[in-house]
Amino acid sequence: MSNNALSARKAAIYLLDQVLGEGRLLTELVQSGALEHLPPPDRARAQRLATETLRGLERADRLLQKHLQKYPPMMVRNALRLGTVEICALGEASHGVVNSMVEIVGRDKRIGHLKGLTNAVLRKIVSAGPDAWNALRVPRLPAWLRGPSVDAWGADAVAAMEAAHFSPVPLDITGKGDLAQLASDLGGTLLPTGSVRLQDAGQVSGLPGYDAGDWWVQDAAAAMPVRLLDLKEGETVLDMCAAPGGKTLQAAAVRARVTAIDVSKQRLKRVRENLERCKLHAVVKKEDALKVEGSFDAIILDAPCSATGTIRRHPDLPHAKTGDNFGELIGLQTEMLDHALDLLKSGGRMVYCTCSLLPDEGECQIEEVLGRRKDVELVPLTQDWIEDDWHAPEGGLRLRPDFWAEKGGMDGFYIAVLRKL
Ligand SMILES: C[S@@+](CC[C@H](N)C(=O)[O-])C[C@H]1O[C@@H](n2cnc3c(N)ncnc32)[C@H](O)[C@@H]1O
Repeated sequence: MSNNALSARKAAIYLLDQVLGEGRLLTELVQSGALEHLPPPDRARAQRLATETLRGLERADRLLQKHLQKYPPMMVRNALRLGTVEICALGEASHGVVNSMVEIVGRDKRIGHLKGLTNAVLRKIVSAGPDAWNALRVPRLPAWLRGPSVDAWGADAVAAMEAAHFSPVPLDITGKGDLAQLASDLGGTLLPTGSVRLQDAGQVSGLPGYDAGDWWVQDAAAAMPVRLLDLKEGETVLDMCAAPGGKTLQAAAVRARVTAIDVSKQRLKRVRENLERCKLHAVVKKEDALKVEGSFDAIILDAPCSATGTIRRHPDLPHAKTGDNFGELIGLQTEMLDHALDLLKSGGRMVYCTCSLLPDEGECQIEEVLGRRKDVELVPLTQDWIEDDWHAPEGGLRLRPDFWAEKGGMDGFYIAVLRKL
């Protein structure tokens, strides 16, 4: 067994302990240096292992529960979960997986006495094999999110979303130049909305055009809000919640005069790096969106939200969050929406969007602002790439992860464009 495989597995177990025990998010853990001690390929491997374990967590627990009389300590439980996913879902050589997990558990003084149990349980998982895994139902959303989602979209739609969350996720790219050429250079497909989609991308920074800054990674749904805003060269644009910068880059790419602000200094570093790599320009400032002053032709408000639309890319989210602070986020979205409208020139337009599955963060915000303010109207969305079932009855677009299922899905989003009267 290679030392690299062992350290990536150990790091993946640590990530699982942090997500499932401490409610932390994987991106936050990685950004705060949790994998810094590993060489880059092992970092990527550890992250992938933790992500796939969280995606299949319900199935892993169902298989393991047959062989456990009581739950072992968190770290052993997570080693068993990771081992199960590697053996049953990722097709890893089972003896290597079992040996790694036994060694990881055995080397830790607090749990070393459980290495025999780890070995015995994983051997039973090996005998049951992928067939037992494949016979189980698709993992469900946790109850705190499933209930409101069924109320909003119905049981069949939620089942389709759960299937999308459990399916392989493509890499989507937004490009600066000739998109058909970019799709061909990258071996991807040009989607009707203008994003390029790659099914098996591998390491992003190794793809052609990455170093030259010809493109950036951005989910196809996440790229739609700025396309709907139809920005023009020279317009003044405020990106009110900009980091990590996908929408700032889109606005800068049409040569709008962009001011990108975000409250997070750490996340703004990513905006600056992305602008530099892509050779694009924007004024980047650390600021609270509610305190910004000025007047703009157009505003992008991609408000902080539950991020429940991004579960297919972030399967840690339903396990790390409980839904408890969503009320606060909804209040913040309302305040940001009003402040953004105050900063808009008359005749100016703004796009409001959230990567959320919850109507409280999307449709309801727009319905309420239209009722509350007389200086704003909804802009009808008529772009020819919009599919009929994307239109929300309240106006705007309701995008769901199960849309485009045959193409690899899209993140869940609500998007509306507003005009100041
Ligand atoms: C959904 S993300 C934005 C994603 C970004 N627009 C993109 O396309 O890459 C929401 C952002 O809002 C920022 N944020 C949260 N509260 C804020 C506030 N009061 N003022 C400014 N930014 C805030 C967060 O730091 C986070 O980066």
